[in-house]
Amino acid sequence: MKKYSFLFPALLLAFAITLQGQPMPDEIKMKNFINELMDKMTLEEKIGQLNLPGSGDIVTGQTSNSNIGLRIKEGQVGGLLNLKSVEKIRDVQRVAVEETRLKIPLMFGMDVIHGYQTTFPIPLGLAASWDRTLIEKSARIAAQEATADGICWTFSPMVDIARDPRWGRIAEGAGEDAYLGSEVAKAFVHGYQGKDLSKNNTMMSCVKHFALYGAAEGGRDYNTVDMSFQRMYNEYLPPYKAAIDAGAGSVMSSFNEINGIPATANKWLLTDLLRGEWGFNGFVLTDFTGINELMEHGLGDLQTVSALALNAGVDLDMVGEGFLSTLKKSFDEGKISQATIDQACRRILEAKYKLGLFDDPYRYCDVNRAKTEIATPENFQAAREIATQTFVLLKNEKETLPIQKKGKIALIGPLADNRKNMAGMWSVAVKHDQSVTVLEGFKEAVGKKAEIFYAKGSNIVDDPKLDEWTGSWGEPGIDPDRTPAQLREEAVAVASKCDVVVAVMGESAEMSGESSSRSDISLPGSQRVLLEALLQTGKPVVLVLFTGRPLILNWENENIPAILNVWFGGSTAGQAIADVVFGTVNPSGKLPVTFPQNVGQIPLYYNHKNTGRPLGEDEWFAKFLSNYLDVTNDPLYPFGYGLSYTSFTFSDLKLDQNKLTGNQTLKASIDITNSGKYDGAEVVQLYIRDLVGSMTRPVKELKGFQKVFIKAGETKTVTFDITPEDLKFYNYDLKYDWEAGDFVIMAGGNSRDVKSAQVNWLK
Ligand code: BGC
Repeated sequence: MKKYSFLFPALLLAFAITLQGQPMPDEIKMKNFINELMDKMTLEEKIGQLNLPGSGDIVTGQTSNSNIGLRIKEGQVGGLLNLKSVEKIRDVQRVAVEETRLKIPLMFGMDVIHGYQTTFPIPLGLAASWDRTLIEKSARIAAQEATADGICWTFSPMVDIARDPRWGRIAEGAGEDAYLGSEVAKAFVHGYQGKDLSKNNTMMSCVKHFALYGAAEGGRDYNTVDMSFQRMYNEYLPPYKAAIDAGAGSVMSSFNEINGIPATANKWLLTDLLRGEWGFNGFVLTDFTGINELMEHGLGDLQTVSALALNAGVDLDMVGEGFLSTLKKSFDEGKISQATIDQACRRILEAKYKLGLFDDPYRYCDVNRAKTEIATPENFQAAREIATQTFVLLKNEKETLPIQKKGKIALIGPLADNRKNMAGMWSVAVKHDQSVTVLEGFKEAVGKKAEIFYAKGSNIVDDPKLDEWTGSWGEPGIDPDRTPAQLREEAVAVASKCDVVVAVMGESAEMSGESSSRSDISLPGSQRVLLEALLQTGKPVVLVLFTGRPLILNWENENIPAILNVWFGGSTAGQAIADVVFGTVNPSGKLPVTFPQNVGQIPLYYNHKNTGRPLGEDEWFAKFLSNYLDVTNDPLYPFGYGLSYTSFTFSDLKLDQNKLTGNQTLKASIDITNSGKYDGAEVVQLYIRDLVGSMTRPVKELKGFQKVFIKAGETKTVTFDITPEDLKFYNYDLKYDWEAGDFVIMAGGNSRDVKSAQVNWLK
């Protein structure tokens, strides 16, 4: 026995390894099922699964004879894009499972970006809540509603880090920071997918746009991206990885090129990094006609680029039909292998399996659910509560806000009574007539206690061309009856007879989002002139600002006593704005992105490097240092910034030790006192600076945050546990590790005003 005793642990180990490497029984079941199915499939049928066409004009009950119906019957369709309504989806699914040879169900995907019919604030706004639970809740409700209407897959979250507010799609993401972006990404994925993807009220999420789409040169949409790998890994890739680690079932490749290879044809990106390094095992789809656009990028004809995309790791072709029309030929010519097609087809079938569609293809097609679970009063109430948490108070001189429900209140501006602009860009399923305007919200809030007087005051934009380009989903803006001067006069007359003026201004919904880059990001049209005229009445003026991006607000900050940034608040924007303006809710949102002083400072972000010639604090200019002659290096409002109706005082930062070794945990705590007269919430932010490294390190990086509610007069202690995990970064060789040395730990209510203490941490 003794002789063989060494064998026992070895056997145990071997057994453990086998167990560990063994797929779960469910997975075996899935694999067997798909193997069997694929054995029956022709090459053409497999290629058909890789095709995601647009849905065209589908009339319920007529699908079978429609163009798309015929193609489904031929096995040319794997899923459909942006088809709305459970009846239609049921009808289309019926064709797939009753009128095709193999009865493979379709997947139905849609851009459910910030809510479904109940629309939540735009994602940049949701990120401004710095509230993981609340963001997850918004995604949960979105999934509940979308799945009740036939959708089982959403093209969200969009996690592209964006440091350039000229880029319109900054509105769709979580802003400039990798840590905040990662937390938001996880919350979205958990909310959509829940714990069990096959349930009829969870849907598959798709993280996009992989990758680096937000770094488009000059903020011009779809533009070139060229970036060092160090920056990529440390500053841009983490949110995608976080979404994948959270279990996102699919990934959408981006339109842009990365260092000379477009993402959609980028094997390093879609295979080596995504699957090799990160272990992603879902499927990859292109963005809208992404494969066809490779021709414009200059990579070859449709057949060439389709083969390139497949070989790079794309599984599903959105809309362009390059796969459908060329892969067979490429296969016959030996340019793609059977194994590669099989692999892509398998991934699509696995997704359908995980969604439970093979068990019940009508799982998401319960017509009764559609009647009872969409746009419910509860969901609207949740949307309202969530929206109030996303507004950022940028300025509040002399406690201009909250305003009291009394006397005469002038509500002025092109967004004050503008239903179609409440929801914001990418509100695919919103019903605008259900959205609450600010005027309605105000009237409902004050009841008989105050009088509200409304005047439009200005157009959003005065240039007809711009109006046409940005008014497609919003209200056509330019007033047909009155000139800008007449509108203004009317508003001044209204303001003059009131006690306080609330100016509701900003961008229209379609001025941000896709293909909505701007080079001048100030208040558009003659809104500034209107503000000047309103100020001249001598009445206190509050600016309620609608925007999908940071705007340049120097003049407004200088002249307007109170500014509340409300992004686009969704279906219940009007009520939520009234809740905050009248003080029922104390604002607690914080900027997820820096607001620069002018466009020339862009890109301006808090976690920049120091340079070899940094400017001293509070300095504007010194010869031969890194600065501008005509503007300071400071932002107008820094990342993480946002005021409250109350005030918070931070104690010094306390560390439980200042010398650590190895895997210890450092406790950093800070006391926050609500020193004002309102109860309120503060987002306590933790930043770390790595003082000496093998490569240059940012001046600070967000590493944690906690939102705490503190009653007036009370003090709460917030403690962060810091471990070496929080010190890690990708070094020059892209190795993810931490380096021993000195670190500055900082905490505060924004990225600029922090309390700090130093530690020495050795390996
Ligand atoms: C956008 C994607 C979107 C897709 C499908 C594209 O134009 O870039 O974000 O998911 O359309 O609607």
